[in-house]
Amino acid sequence: GLSCAEKRGALIVLEGLDRSGKSSQCASLVSFLNKQGISAEAWRFPDRSTAIGSMISSYLSSSADLDDCTVHLLFSANRWEKRSVMEAKLKEGTTLVVDRYSYSGVAFSAAKGLDLNWCKAPDQGLLAADLVLYLNIPPEVAAARGGYGGERYEKMDFQLEVAKYYKKLQDSTWQTIDATKSIEEVQEDIKNASLRIIAECSEGQELLRLWG
Ligand code: TMP
Ligand code: MG
Repeated sequence: GLSCAEKRGALIVLEGLDRSGKSSQCASLVSFLNKQGISAEAWRFPDRSTAIGSMISSYLSSSADLDDCTVHLLFSANRWEKRSVMEAKLKEGTTLVVDRYSYSGVAFSAAKGLDLNWCKAPDQGLLAADLVLYLNIPPEVAAARGGYGGERYEKMDFQLEVAKYYKKLQDSTWQTIDATKSIEEVQEDIKNASLRIIAECSEGQELLRLWG
């Protein structure tokens, strides 16, 4: 692990299918933490603001076609280009609440038929999440919520395949949240789990790396 002299922040990742409610839950969690006087920021991947992120964004909107392996490596590179800033933030005591991370990277690419271990390899050595909150929802329930948008991957049969690979990635850092409950109930579960991990990390829990 990477040792931290100061009290560090926690790396909290929200994962789940498209339309599982991750983005609004991330925003609510960060505003709740900030109101509690806890330093926290909302992050998301893909980070479409960089040059790599803009290539990914064109691919997702289908205005650019890219080979499956190539786009997988771009998603990974988009996390690598943020790694050192993430580490600095965590070490200065800021908690990062991240909407998607390496687990999306692996689950979405493996669902296309790419080898699971090949998919994991480029993310090896990135910071590992202290807590992964998996917003569990059947794809048909997600689709019924205002429907999927027009981006690549936002189709029921593909989302079913993605869900299978998410399940294979579950480890001791995962907590499954029933995302079919009300927004308020889901938020309560997320808050409780987050406060617990933030306390643990501030007590000196070392930063870990993928795929630990
Ligand atoms: P977003 O809707 O959260 O912005 O994510 C865009 C899409 O990109 C979503 O369908 C999940 C997919 N994705 C990958 O395929 N690989 C990745 O590494 C990440 C972070 C997202
Ligand atoms: Mg989306």
